[in-house]
Amino acid sequence: MKLKSVEFAGAIGRPGQAPPGTLPQIAFAGRSNVGKSSLINRLLERHRKQIARVSASPGKTQEINFYKIRAEVGDADDDFFLVDLPGYGFAKAPESVRAAWRPLIESYIGNSRELIGVVQLIDARHEPTKEDLKMVEYLASIEMPTLFVLTKIDKLKPAEKIKRVNENAHLLGVEQDQVVAFSSTSGEGRDELMESLRHLLTGD
Ligand code: GTP
Ligand code: MG
Repeated sequence: MKLKSVEFAGAIGRPGQAPPGTLPQIAFAGRSNVGKSSLINRLLERHRKQIARVSASPGKTQEINFYKIRAEVGDADDDFFLVDLPGYGFAKAPESVRAAWRPLIESYIGNSRELIGVVQLIDARHEPTKEDLKMVEYLASIEMPTLFVLTKIDKLKPAEKIKRVNENAHLLGVEQDQVVAFSSTSGEGRDELMESLRHLLTGD
């Protein structure tokens, strides 16, 4: 699968607000600062002109942002939305901001008929947080196809890396091959993740 073009399609900031169209959607979830926007930019190979805003101050992305992607799958073109969810659980954010993510994210995830899967990001250096596990539990409860990505893998030594993948898979209750080790700086894991996204989109 090759990504041919990307454009910002719109954002939603209130529970119940409709997405900017009815294309199939793949959403990216994770705690604030986990590296969602960086991963999206790396997937899109937008090094020079970044489309998803990478925040110096975590917790900045408080809306659900939709990017319309045109992908080349085999001989055909396929359009879908890549969805950047607001990061949850940023400790320094005011309580009102911290509490706001759940209704917005759950209203979107629970009601979007076009959502075909969620990519759940976890920081490779840490165990899943309480909020990560709550999110994973929620996704399982609605039987949402979920892929797991361990971000910032470049910050770990090779031996540590294998250990963290195994530990996280165990804590998340999934097989190791459902967990992709990823680095936005080196591009490690990009091909593997792209293949999983293709699988989600085409169903084979
Ligand atoms: P919010 O939008 O605030 O929820 O954050 P986010 O999850 O979108 O994280 P973002 O991509 O903005 O990255 C947060 C910080 O982590 C930035 O300083 C990035 O440069 C850094 N970062 C993200 N991914 C990686 C990675 O794979 N490796 C390294 N070394 N740093 C990374
Ligand atoms: Mg972001």
